[in-house]
Amino acid sequence: APVHFIALLCASVALTYAYNARHEVRKFPDGFLFGTATASYQVEGAWDVDGKTENIWDHYTHNHPEFIRDKSNGDIADNSYYLYRRDVQMMRELGLDFYRFSVSWTRILPSGFPDKINEAGVQYYNKLIDELLKYNIQPMMTLYHWDLPQKLQDLGGWTNSEIVTWYSDYARVIFKLFGERVKHFITINEPYQICNSAYGVSDQSGLAPALDSRGVGEYMCAKNLLLAHAKAYHIYNEEFRPTQKGKIFISFSAQWYEPATDSEADIEAAYDANHFYWAQYSWPVFSETGDFPPALKKRVAARSAEQGYPRSRLPEFTPEEIEFVKGTSDYFGLNHYSTNYIHRNESVPVYASPSFADDLGVGSFTLPEWLLGESTRTKYAMYFQYVPWGFRKLLNRIKDDYKNPPVFVTENGIASHGGIVDNDRVTYYRGYLDALLDALEDGCDVRGYTAWSLMDNFEWTAGYTERFGLYEVNYDSIYRTRTPRKSAYVYRELLRSRSLDH
Ligand code: NOJ
Repeated sequence: APVHFIALLCASVALTYAYNARHEVRKFPDGFLFGTATASYQVEGAWDVDGKTENIWDHYTHNHPEFIRDKSNGDIADNSYYLYRRDVQMMRELGLDFYRFSVSWTRILPSGFPDKINEAGVQYYNKLIDELLKYNIQPMMTLYHWDLPQKLQDLGGWTNSEIVTWYSDYARVIFKLFGERVKHFITINEPYQICNSAYGVSDQSGLAPALDSRGVGEYMCAKNLLLAHAKAYHIYNEEFRPTQKGKIFISFSAQWYEPATDSEADIEAAYDANHFYWAQYSWPVFSETGDFPPALKKRVAARSAEQGYPRSRLPEFTPEEIEFVKGTSDYFGLNHYSTNYIHRNESVPVYASPSFADDLGVGSFTLPEWLLGESTRTKYAMYFQYVPWGFRKLLNRIKDDYKNPPVFVTENGIASHGGIVDNDRVTYYRGYLDALLDALEDGCDVRGYTAWSLMDNFEWTAGYTERFGLYEVNYDSIYRTRTPRKSAYVYRELLRSRSLDH
């Protein structure tokens, strides 16, 4: 009967639409940039070679091997100090637009101060930059990716306000040396990890220098770090940008914090968590008001009062300092990995920093499996989970809170134990890039994407037990042989087609 025929026709048309919608090829916008990232201590090795002196990670791993999961260190790491040509060859295989790497402070300034520049260190980065440019791969240089000169740590490190001068003197040296050829500078990588995970930990379980000055040291660090970043930005802006014409920005580590239930208390707790864990650093730079974010100020002040302090333990910015820090980043540099559920609990500590959780008053947990949908999460290493929608929500929050700033994703990725056929990592990259495309459709202004990492490397306190690489590195061989994983082929195809198919 015709009725049946029409019904069948309608159904098949609907199905075709549904199929196409699901299987569409999604294009990345013109000019969208793709790259991969590493960091000096995690890949270079050559820790005491050619005039380089000790930094806090050399010191920490040599003095406390027991705090590194496999008791390893970065003495040799991926040996990129010698194998940088092979690294660039891999980037050419992948077809990268840019490569993000960091400078080892003590390779350039052995005393930590600009009294003497170490020529051999300068040569290393010059050779790497030349090799990149030769193949049309743009260098993106991070000035500080956690390897502070030990000499400066001995003077208090990031809790000493003099670091504003130490760091900006170093930054000026870097701009002068490399700014003619490097057009993307990242001042500082992941303030939260530098401050909260290193000065606000309960024992030596954190990142170097792993000092227990909970509830105080991490906040002093936060203020000094933001002023140091801002000073480097102003130096670049005034002394170098007119001729070098590059971009300079800071990269925050921002996970997404989702309320565990729709109770008001949990919604507020998740809001607080987003303010504490990343807006602590991005609010002063990107919000209209500047300063630390309201939820952080409110809760630390309240806790301080309970403890008998009439003033908050959170340092204050003067009005001049607020103006000095505001607007000092050309992009919102974003390192994103995962999502956590948050609930209000005034007494539960979270993993990184018990005191911090005490100020924050939240509990945090990873998502239950049934909420994750299509997921291979049980195979994922570390504490990261596959939650692409959290990435989309985060990008939208950045858009809404800060008037849609240009965002550069400077890290995203996952550790896998999958070996060469790392299907879980492939799922992760495809899912997160799909979420990024959703965010672009939502109107978020995302300009580029960086996979962490080009290759396996020294994963801080996890040593070599967590593998983030598109390329596998063989640590049993003195040649540190690199082999592409399945994810490398998928990433290459994605970059070639500038699109994601389903
Ligand atoms: C953040 C850090 O910047 C990087 O050094 C680290 O290896 C990755 N995330 C993975 O944990």
